[in-house]
Amino acid sequence: MQVVSTIAEVRTARPQWPTLGLVPTMGYLHAGHISLVERARAECGAVAVSIFVNPTQFGPNEDLASYPRDLERDLAMLRDAGCDLVWTPGVTEMYPPGFSTYVEVENVTAVLEGAKRPGHFRGVATVVTKLFNVVQPTRAYFGQKDAQQTVVIRRMVADLALPVDVVIAPTVREPDGLALSSRNTYLAPDERQAATVLSRALFAARERWRSGERSAAALRQLMQSILAAEPLAQVEYVSAAHPDTLAELETIDASGALLSMAVRIGRTRLIDNVVLDPAE
Ligand code: PAF
Repeated sequence: MQVVSTIAEVRTARPQWPTLGLVPTMGYLHAGHISLVERARAECGAVAVSIFVNPTQFGPNEDLASYPRDLERDLAMLRDAGCDLVWTPGVTEMYPPGFSTYVEVENVTAVLEGAKRPGHFRGVATVVTKLFNVVQPTRAYFGQKDAQQTVVIRRMVADLALPVDVVIAPTVREPDGLALSSRNTYLAPDERQAATVLSRALFAARERWRSGERSAAALRQLMQSILAAEPLAQVEYVSAAHPDTLAELETIDASGALLSMAVRIGRTRLIDNVVLDPAE
């Protein structure tokens, strides 16, 4: 496994692989990231992973400074997973002095996470574009856990005709349902227990839909009532939206829906989602 930090080193290494899968990450890897590496290994001749805690996608009052980091552990996990190239750029490699160019995806960034975290998706779209330009992957792998991010990146790749196939892999969960996230490390034991309320609410709403409920308001109400029963949970939003436009729905039709939520458990902000897919 090659570990490099500069753009020039990535560009030197790249031509040896006809097909390359890229897994962009912010490090502090968990089994969800490793599932993306394994999927990329199965589908591509080689796998590259980027590790970069991207400052432009954090708001001024967010957790950039305290975001968990453990590069040695990440590299050991990636070696075990059979990764070929790890790129760990520094901040000035990605944002050299005078940096002034950003990628803005409109409409689908105006709601949900985009409404709560102004500028977040501008930072994500910009850094992902740069990662794609440098690594030139055949395919790029993202987790369904960040549902709106997958919509934004698919929109951007289609709109700008970026030459990469975007692959979205299922959310990996703890046995009790909690979606894996690097931020779960912030949770105290009582908060960790309380955090199961997100998946419990989402799974209950999915069951209600499977039993025939088609009112989006009824599903939002069901999720809200389950969240309200958890004293440590403070709800930011609960959504039942169109899976591509992210517009809030009245009725769930043949397009299905994305059920999603952001909930604070103590000081930790967690997001989770499930897709209601009528074809499933
Ligand atoms: O999902 C993440 O970890 C980040 O948003 C990404 C895609 C690596 C961009 O910084």
